[in-house]
Amino acid sequence: MSKSQFALYIHIPFCVSKCSYCDFCSFVPKLEQVTTYISALKQEIESAKEKTKGRQVSSIYIGGGTPSTLPAGAVEEIMACVRKNFDLVENCSITIEANPNSFDSEKAKEYARAGCNRLSLGLQSDNDKILKVLNRAHNFNDCVNAVQFALNNNINDINVDIMLGVPQQTKRDLEITLQKVIDLPITHISAYGLICEPNTPLTNAIRQGKLILPSDDEAVEMYDYTVDFLAKHGFKRYEISNFAKEGYRSAHNMNYWKRGEYLGLGLAAHSFYNGTHWHNTEDFTKYLQNPTNCREDIEHETIQTAKEEMIMLALRTTDGLDIEKYNNTFSCDFLQEYKSAINKLLENDLIQIKNGVVRIKNLYISNAIIAEFF
Ligand SMILES: C[S@@+](CC[C@H](N)C(=O)[O-])C[C@H]1O[C@@H](n2cnc3c(N)ncnc32)[C@H](O)[C@@H]1O
Ligand code: SF4
Repeated sequence: MSKSQFALYIHIPFCVSKCSYCDFCSFVPKLEQVTTYISALKQEIESAKEKTKGRQVSSIYIGGGTPSTLPAGAVEEIMACVRKNFDLVENCSITIEANPNSFDSEKAKEYARAGCNRLSLGLQSDNDKILKVLNRAHNFNDCVNAVQFALNNNINDINVDIMLGVPQQTKRDLEITLQKVIDLPITHISAYGLICEPNTPLTNAIRQGKLILPSDDEAVEMYDYTVDFLAKHGFKRYEISNFAKEGYRSAHNMNYWKRGEYLGLGLAAHSFYNGTHWHNTEDFTKYLQNPTNCREDIEHETIQTAKEEMIMLALRTTDGLDIEKYNNTFSCDFLQEYKSAINKLLENDLIQIKNGVVRIKNLYISNAIIAEFF
């Protein structure tokens, strides 16, 4: 019998500078903070060995922050610790995030030696004016070079992140970015609509009228254009913001959307393991003091939360919600249970039910549609 599997997320909370829109748990560190963090992280990895005994890691995602800001040798050191303490499936998908300007030939070599076989690059835009609004310290050429460094080292599965709906971004700007991105030899694109996170410099500048967001109509137009354009060029959407060439969906993210288990290690990392959700502390000092005992917001799932989560996650994807799978998992009747929401959404032509699968027709407004179920 095959061993049960879970995914592993490792958080690296460091960046070279802070982008104007970002509220991820990341900061610009001092060198000694990096060294102490790696020791604490290794301690946490070692302590997780016991509770994952008899199970296998299906995918690994080293994210951040910006893992590529780590000093030479750190990723190899972390991955050696991971291999020593966990049982990885054969051909485990191992992704590492990088910024185009903190990734070079030496890092590509190191990541390949560490077993990383997928790279995720945060480009956001090819346009210097927009990169400046976002406070990004790289240009498009850095991204072209980064892709080449990865390919030279047989890291062939490459994602590029871009952003839509940024102040000063016109549809024409986006068209140019998309054209340049699809011309790169990459396998995956994540296209995120800008989320105006509270208290970030970008959101404050918008509030003060110093920067103006594209209108809702313009933002919808940008999203629809992205979906059509990428499909025409072989990048098929499989989740609201994710597009892949055939066979290159992100295994790690697919596990999230299928409600698979994942263990998050490092500052602020989120986990869903053995029917429990939690996240590690976001307080750097607290994490360093006690990396093996810093869980917060521990929540044991109930049948109701599990049901809601399955609906919410599945409806984000183009695979949709498999009614039979839902019914078998929870020994119930989905169509009966959500009869009134389903009827309302069908009458308004917002969902489709075909061959036992529920799908949202327009994923751009998926949040509002999913809310109808709760
Ligand atoms: C946490 S970052 C990690 C990658 C790397 N640090 C970088 O920025 O290049 C992952 C991606 O999230 C997206 N992101 C972060 N904050 C966002 C926001 N407020 N709205 C939309 N997308 C955001 C960006 O596209 C970014 O590339
Ligand atoms: S580099 Fe990535 S994680 Fe760091 S501040 Fe920018 S968007 Fe956030």
